[in-house]
Amino acid sequence: MKNKFNTVKSVLIRVDFNVPLKNNKISDLSRVEAVIPTIRFFLKLNKKVVLISHLGRPKSYDEKLSLKKIIKPLSRMLGKQVEFKKNWLTETNFNKNSLADVTLLENLRFHIDETSNKKDFAKIISRYGDIYVNDAFAVSHRHHASVSAILEFFEDKYMGFLLKKELGHLRSITKKKKRPFTLIVGGSKIGSKIHILKSFVGIADNILIGGGMAFPFIKNNGGKIGQSICIDDELTIVSDFLKTAKDYSTKIILPIDAFAVEKIEKVDTIKLLDIYKIPKNLMGVDIGPKSINNFKEIISSSNSILWNGPMGVAEVREFSTGTRKIAEYVSQATENKSYTVIGGGDTVSDISRFGLKSKFSYVSTGGGAMLEYFKKNKLETTAELKDL
Ligand code: 3PG
Repeated sequence: MKNKFNTVKSVLIRVDFNVPLKNNKISDLSRVEAVIPTIRFFLKLNKKVVLISHLGRPKSYDEKLSLKKIIKPLSRMLGKQVEFKKNWLTETNFNKNSLADVTLLENLRFHIDETSNKKDFAKIISRYGDIYVNDAFAVSHRHHASVSAILEFFEDKYMGFLLKKELGHLRSITKKKKRPFTLIVGGSKIGSKIHILKSFVGIADNILIGGGMAFPFIKNNGGKIGQSICIDDELTIVSDFLKTAKDYSTKIILPIDAFAVEKIEKVDTIKLLDIYKIPKNLMGVDIGPKSINNFKEIISSSNSILWNGPMGVAEVREFSTGTRKIAEYVSQATENKSYTVIGGGDTVSDISRFGLKSKFSYVSTGGGAMLEYFKKNKLETTAELKDL
């Protein structure tokens, strides 16, 4: 049977295998499972599939962030052995005809040219496919070589099934959103998320801030945060953001108490404190019971909720109460007919661990990408991609 891919030998698919890791082991495979339909689609058409992805934020080679750890679960899911190419960048005698059915290239971010969106780097990656497919929703807000610069090297570029599904859901969320609309943000990717938060001012009625995201706010308000995560450059952005939020009457709700420890590994040093009074030798690792109660009240009176980012270091059981409680309240809100959307690698891994993954209106594989989408109701890197 003839189809539009008849002349295609190999398909380059950008996936997001940025899976959560705990003690160097994969703690959740949702992002891998999510792209299996697109891979299978091309395997059924007898095409060779070459997968590219990042894992973590390395600046150069880092054994712990090698994508090699994906080979075993991926081969199991596909029912065939996936080949791994460690030195794909420098392979000179490379020939598309000799590719295995499915090949995974080593972590793109071992090369700085990926995040700096270098054209020459994108060109080398592009040798591996006759057509390009983006199925990496979670990283599609980044202007990186494998999602952005690469587009100019392909005439035929497509949207994978996951990317299409995610964008479809986000489109319908923008329509279905009922007020009061509450955004819950946590996690530690403060630098990139704080810019995105601005786009919710005037749209969200409440913004609840927990996890590592809270500390620049507490410090900006004159609090003492000890060793808690905070980059001082972010403080000006925080104070600008708070002024704008006030002008638009968007309520910003911060935690008031927190659990803190000397070091993540020293669980037994845990103390419950006023979040504005964390001593020099301690760092905040979870929100406390008073904060949880405040957040609960707002969650239960919201008609739409968007949540990205844990409330603490939730992968450590002793520091996961805040995240678990918030997950329970958001799932109760869903039962009470609120429209709830959860996203982000860590958050999805947390709600799966708590056994709550099926309890929300929609669970997205993307975190930052999901939030970024709401800025302009689109993701620029996906604009010229065709449907499969
Ligand atoms: C994510 O986990 O949100 C995506 O994989 C993007 O990762 P990044 O924030 O490191 O670009």
